[in-house]
Amino acid sequence: MKGVILAGGLGTRLNPLTFVTNKHLLPVYDKPMIYYPIETLVKGGITEVLIVTSGPHVGHFLGLLKNGKEFGLTHLEYAYQEKPDGGIADALSIARDFADNGPLAVVLGDNTTDADISEAVKNFKSGGHVFLREVPDPQRYGVATIDPNDKTKLIDIVEKPKNPVSNLAVTGLYLYDNKVFDFIDGIQPSDRGELEITDVNNMYLKKGELGWSMLGGYWTDAGTFDTLYRASKYWFEKHQQDKK
Ligand code: DAU
Repeated sequence: MKGVILAGGLGTRLNPLTFVTNKHLLPVYDKPMIYYPIETLVKGGITEVLIVTSGPHVGHFLGLLKNGKEFGLTHLEYAYQEKPDGGIADALSIARDFADNGPLAVVLGDNTTDADISEAVKNFKSGGHVFLREVPDPQRYGVATIDPNDKTKLIDIVEKPKNPVSNLAVTGLYLYDNKVFDFIDGIQPSDRGELEITDVNNMYLKKGELGWSMLGGYWTDAGTFDTLYRASKYWFEKHQQDKK
């Protein structure tokens, strides 16, 4: 399976930091944010990666990551999202040629986790797969509803609901077969003007082709000052523990 890291968007929630570089190159404890999704993919057994990015600082990626060899990547490609805030699904649509009809593991560039997705990657056959996580503030995420009569069944995902029906966030890690590109072609921009990944996931759901599992380990996004600080603190403490 190949991997895609979505690192577009304007990162306005982190202004003024993002006036000088791309959000995904800001430090999370001792490394640039983008190192974490790269490491998640490599740990998951994925070494061919496309990074989709945008905005005024795109050149900074190449200087930092080069050809990706130092991370264990065998192939690293870069693509440019013309509309920097066109949405996660818009950014993913650019990966069509790279996917070459095969399946993809997709990670949002501002997600940091120590979860191991290698089993899910190995067992993936077709359709889509999302990784869920209990969170204290579900209204910030895509929120999943599980069927109360069949706890194995995911029935709906709502993007940033005002009154969440559960505390299960859809994390920014996804597995998709090649139908994802047809589904993206079939969705319209949301009220916030973005092509939403949640609409794509709900299309898989309607077809009965969306699998799910709980994401183990630590996980957070790092796209706001609070979560950027929280993520840095976690990795700092983990580092201290590992040294003991
Ligand atoms: O972190 C998990 C959440 O990520 C999910 O629960 C939500 O369903 C999903 O919509 C997303 O929500 P956010 O509002 O946190 O997404 P954000 O706009 O911060 O974008 C997350 C990453 O996606 C960002 O770091 C880069 C990439 N992205 C985003 C946009 C809007 C792009 O590559 N291009 C884009 O146009």
